[in-house]
Amino acid sequence: EDHLAEGLPLINKKVLITAGPTYEAIDPVRFIGNHSSGKMGFELAAAANAAGAKVILVSGPTHLANPHENIELVRVQSALEMFDAATKFFPEVDIAIAAAAVSDYRPKVSAMQKIKKNSEIMQLELVKNPDILATLGEAKKDQLLIGFALETENEEENAAGKLKKKNLDFIVLNSLNDSGAGFKSETNKIKILFKDGNVKTFDLKSKKEVAEDILNEIILLSNE
Ligand code: CTP
Ligand code: CA
Repeated sequence: EDHLAEGLPLINKKVLITAGPTYEAIDPVRFIGNHSSGKMGFELAAAANAAGAKVILVSGPTHLANPHENIELVRVQSALEMFDAATKFFPEVDIAIAAAAVSDYRPKVSAMQKIKKNSEIMQLELVKNPDILATLGEAKKDQLLIGFALETENEEENAAGKLKKKNLDFIVLNSLNDSGAGFKSETNKIKILFKDGNVKTFDLKSKKEVAEDILNEIILLSNE
């Protein structure tokens, strides 16, 4: 709050945010997806825009409207489309935040026609999608790079592993174990793990307030 109140702390900064789920086509009418609402990423986009940043929001399918006309909203469907958009914009931004719930796998082939139910057993072969955030981590120059992690066990250890492996400045750990937090919820309880090993724990808050907390940490780092 304090920092956001100090005028426009991210003026002249460009921020890339990924948000929402991805849909991986099985055939023309079916897909593999997840329950991500996109809310966290859209709140981050609104908060970054309010802080004076130029925001590019790359989002998978969601019912949410663009939070602000100044935000460049790029709508995509699949992980591969999100990968193309995110890697295209990354070299020109100062800060990137990966809030999307990217499907880890996609059907190896997407059928051209609607699949008929003509067998008792149906096998779907899946192949791994590229890791968008890890790819940005490899391409990183002087950008700040922030990721999310959703874990159900060994939370801090797993999140710390992703922080290091993906070359992040910090990672936001969301716990499904805390009531009120998670995908469909309006609230979130987070911990932030920094690359220097520092950990900050936050209270259960609305996603809007969580977005402001995350933005404040980014502002502190971008002024270092
Ligand atoms: N992520 C991404 N591209 C992917 C998968 C994940 O950009 N193909 C990003 C997410 O947006 C998130 C972070 O990586 O910021 C961690 O995602 P998560 O699903 O928690 O971790 P994974 O690396 O996919 O590992 P796993 O699902 O096996 O725990
Ligand atoms: Ca994953």
